[in-house]
Amino acid sequence: MHDIVQTLEGTYGLDRQSVPYGQWRRGLRSTIHFLSYHFVLKRHTTRCTRAAGFRMVVRPTVFHPRYFITSEFFASFIGRLDLTGKRVADVGTGSGILALAAARAGAAKVTAIDVNPNAALSAAENARANGFENRVTAMCSDLLSALAPSVLFDVIITSPPSFPGEPRDLADRAWHAGPNYRDIALLFDQARERLAPEGRVYILLSSDSDLDLFSTLITRARFQARLAAERSLLIESFIIYTLQAR
Ligand SMILES: C[S@@+](CC[C@H](N)C(=O)[O-])C[C@H]1O[C@@H](n2cnc3c(N)ncnc32)[C@H](O)[C@@H]1O
Repeated sequence: MHDIVQTLEGTYGLDRQSVPYGQWRRGLRSTIHFLSYHFVLKRHTTRCTRAAGFRMVVRPTVFHPRYFITSEFFASFIGRLDLTGKRVADVGTGSGILALAAARAGAAKVTAIDVNPNAALSAAENARANGFENRVTAMCSDLLSALAPSVLFDVIITSPPSFPGEPRDLADRAWHAGPNYRDIALLFDQARERLAPEGRVYILLSSDSDLDLFSTLITRARFQARLAAERSLLIESFIIYTLQAR
C-alpha cells in the first residue's frame, strides 16, 4: 500500500477547496442524478454483470457496480492492500463488490452491511457465487448499529452516499444522505468505537461532497485523514482517504 501522506492541512486534505457550483454544474449534477436514479437505481429488475473480476447479481434499488465507476476504482485500491487475516467491515456494501475485493485481498472475515435489504441480499448472493460465503457475511443495518457491542474490526471500508439532501426512497439512499448528511453523520463516531488498535478506515468521497462537513465529522471522531488515492474525471474527482485514530 502506498499512502501519500498528507495532513488535513495539505492540498489534498479534507480542507481542499470545493469547486464552486455554477449554474451549468448544478444542471449537470441534477441530470446525472436524474439518469442514474430513473434508469439504474429505481429499476424493477435484477441484473447480472461482471465487475472487478466478480460475477455479480444486482437486485432492484441496489447501487450498480459497473455503471458507477467508483465501485471498481475502490475495489482495485482494496486489491492492492494486504488484508491477510484481517477482520473487515464494508459499510454501505451495495452489491458487495468491496466486501468481495477485501476477501480476495486475504481478509479472514468480512461483514458486509447495508441499510437497504436488497443490497444485503445481493451481497450474500454474490459472496456465494464467487466462493467467499465462508468469509463474507451480509447483514441489513443502519451503519454499524446492529452489531453486537463486542465486535471489532481491523479495517473498515466505506463508500457512503456522496450528497446531502433528502433521499426520495431506499434506492436514492445510495446517492443522498439526508440534509447535512444526517443518515451517515454517526459513521465516524461508530467506526472509531469499532476499530481495533492500529485499525484503519478507508473511505471514498467525491470532490463534490461537502468536504468541510466531512472534515468536521472526521475530526470530531478523533481521526487523522490522509490521501490514499484519487481519480479525476472531467467534472469530479473521487478521493480515497485513510483514517487513523489520533
Ligand atoms: C455509493 S453506494 C456504494 C455501494 C458499494 N459500496 C459500491 O461501492 O458499489 C452507498 C451505499 O450505502 C448504503 N447506505 C446509505 N446509508 C446507509 C446507512 N445509514 N447505513 C448503511 N448503509 C447505508 C446505500 O444503500 C448504498 O448501498
